[in-house]
Amino acid sequence: MGADRGTQTVLITGATDGLGKAAALLLAEHGYRLFAAGRSLEKRAQLDSLAKEKKLPLKSLEMDVCDDASVQNAVSAVYQETGQIDVLINNAGLVYPGAVEDLRMEDWRRQFETNFFGVIRVTQAVLPKMRERRKGRILMMSSVSGFVTPPTQGAYSASKHAIEALANALRHELYPFGIHTILIQPGYIVTNIQPTAMNLAQPYQDKIKTGPYAKIYATYMGNASSTRAQSKTTPEDCARVMLQAIEAPQPKARYTVTSLAKFAKWAKRLLTDRAADRMFRKRYGITREN
Ligand SMILES: NC(=O)c1ccc[n+]([C@@H]2O[C@H](COP(=O)([O-])OP(=O)(O)OC[C@H]3O[C@@H](n4cnc5c(N)ncnc54)[C@H](OP(=O)(O)O)[C@@H]3O)[C@@H](O)[C@H]2O)c1
Repeated sequence: MGADRGTQTVLITGATDGLGKAAALLLAEHGYRLFAAGRSLEKRAQLDSLAKEKKLPLKSLEMDVCDDASVQNAVSAVYQETGQIDVLINNAGLVYPGAVEDLRMEDWRRQFETNFFGVIRVTQAVLPKMRERRKGRILMMSSVSGFVTPPTQGAYSASKHAIEALANALRHELYPFGIHTILIQPGYIVTNIQPTAMNLAQPYQDKIKTGPYAKIYATYMGNASSTRAQSKTTPEDCARVMLQAIEAPQPKARYTVTSLAKFAKWAKRLLTDRAADRMFRKRYGITREN
């Protein structure tokens, strides 16, 4: 896809922050025509002025992936302006942390509405024309949580496991039409996703501090802050992997990002469930209560 970048249109969801924003900027710097979708007017304005300052072919547009009309309007606007979408990057996502028993049903639904149904909504809106053109790439932002599940991350991890299954189905279904579906699997990268998760956990503070899973929450948060402190991979590193996935003549089904994700992938292949569970219990200080 690299040779004719100037005529290639890319649509990224959740592109006003974090990994999506880094990818939008990098791809625009490489000459792709970028449509950076986001919810926040303020963040969109900041991104537009940055693009103007750097003279990048990048334009923001309004899109809430949880809203049918918003998705339809945004996708129609791109098709009206360019007639095509060559690459869709399903990136928008957030984390509702909480033990399975603690997390309220409405938050389970919100988790899936953004991370899973949002992805289906945007993909369905883009596919008919992409399929007609018999070419395109769809990048799905999965996670290390798409194949391993730490405690207190059940909802997020379930949504990313669902993304993995969705991408597996799409890879087969879209093969006849020359469309590649590619999973991106990052480990921990410092972005706003972590503070946002802390905010979404606010209603659960009593449970986090004094509920039956308090010890697990405490260890998880301790581990998360040390992972945060040690995290070396940047959003720009992740963006470079996404560029690679877009430009590879024969892209892989999955691209892992960060050494944590690479380690987890190997551990998953080599360890039995029993050995992996033991490792998790040790890491999270999980012991049997009498
Ligand atoms: N950072 C990591 O360690 C990591 C690791 C593995 C996978 N990922 C995945 O990478 C993706 C991006 O995460 P990030 O770390 O870049 O997080 P981030 O900095 O918080 O950015 C997330 C973006 O998604 C947008 N978003 C959330 N809900 C949305 C909705 N309903 N409609 C449209 N946009 C919405 C946010 O927009 P607002 O600003 O309007 O909220 C924001 O622009 C997510 O899918 C995440 O699961 C991240």
